[in-house]
Amino acid sequence: MLSGKHIIVGITGGIAAYKAAVLVRLLVRRGAEVQVLMTPAAKEFITPLTMATLSKRPILVENFNPENGAWNSHIDLGCWADAMVIAPATANTLAKMACGIGDSLLLTTYLSARCPVAVAPAMDLDMMAHAATCQNLETLAQRGVAIIEAESGELASGLSGKGRMAEPEVIVEALERIIGRPQTLKGKRALVTAGATIEAIDPVRYITNHSTGKMGYAIASELAARGAEVCLVSGPTRLECPQGVRRVDVRSADEMFEACIQEWNGSDIGVMCAAVADYTPEQVSDSKIKKSDDDMCIRLRRTRDIAANLGACKEGRVLVGFALETDNEQSNAVAKLQRKNLDFVVLNSMRDKGACFGGDTNKITIIDATGECPCPLESKADAASRIADRIEQIINNK
Ligand code: C5P
Repeated sequence: MLSGKHIIVGITGGIAAYKAAVLVRLLVRRGAEVQVLMTPAAKEFITPLTMATLSKRPILVENFNPENGAWNSHIDLGCWADAMVIAPATANTLAKMACGIGDSLLLTTYLSARCPVAVAPAMDLDMMAHAATCQNLETLAQRGVAIIEAESGELASGLSGKGRMAEPEVIVEALERIIGRPQTLKGKRALVTAGATIEAIDPVRYITNHSTGKMGYAIASELAARGAEVCLVSGPTRLECPQGVRRVDVRSADEMFEACIQEWNGSDIGVMCAAVADYTPEQVSDSKIKKSDDDMCIRLRRTRDIAANLGACKEGRVLVGFALETDNEQSNAVAKLQRKNLDFVVLNSMRDKGACFGGDTNKITIIDATGECPCPLESKADAASRIADRIEQIINNK
């Protein structure tokens, strides 16, 4: 997949720069043509000789050669590359990328690059957790930069936490994903909801359901891999945010509603995969409700329907809903299609083996105004790909 591809490897000044040697070696071994760009600080961590030898080309640091005035054109480099990866990416370089500062060849090339760009952050845990770094990464992700998440573990400082650069093999896999996929949804913005909501009864108890968010996360990941800018509004889950996806964390149905209404502005696609509570306690007790010998009754009020509200102001956008049914599956799904003004409904039946909560497989039926299309039992990733294909078809026929 990487054979013959032009890849720029940008190296910045962090101790993880030594791993860039392995990264370049792996890329060259896969047949890629690699151009290494280093910041001046990176040369303190790993020598240009090492990187030039491994990449089989002179590395570039400065905009021009002070000896003879030869110009290293960031514009030509930006056009040449099929992908650019900055590994390691320090907090400093990430901040400059987010602000559009171009005070090195590496940064001006990033600003000129027309290809997909990925960053593999590496820094100490406190720098990694700093609000400025988090915000810069979020900004870059929103602009379509793929963030290859740092790992947790022992750091060069002796401290332990999140900040270790992803292993070179992981970075190569990410590049294969980025380069290998046609960016058919580039320029589109998608809103995906996922997971269960949590409706508080008191500070201790709540009402929820069994949804784990796996299907919604698979869809967010698939849309992002096709180049869409994805906002994932997620109920509490244990899942990692997919590569290149911006996640907005919410708890209750009301919080999810507010986040979605805000994000729907400017979105082209909505996929409502969350298992949103239909009812929430009318009153949330400030203190723990004490038990008594009597039975108790909690009065519930209806929550607002997010999909129906987005459907009411759809205006030519694509909106997809989910239906999880135990009885009258088809007729309930068709009713939802109409009531919520959806383009299609993805039906899951609780009767199907392999379509249960938390599993890695699903058996969906896609229902639209023209009829229904039952699909085989497949991985949630394959089901997500099928759903994304349908969305693309609708966009292309509009
Ligand atoms: O009406 P029902 O809850 O069965 O419809 C399910 C679909 O509606 C799903 O796509 C779900 O995400 C969405 N939904 C919603 N807001 C709610 C309830 C359901 O967006 N309050």
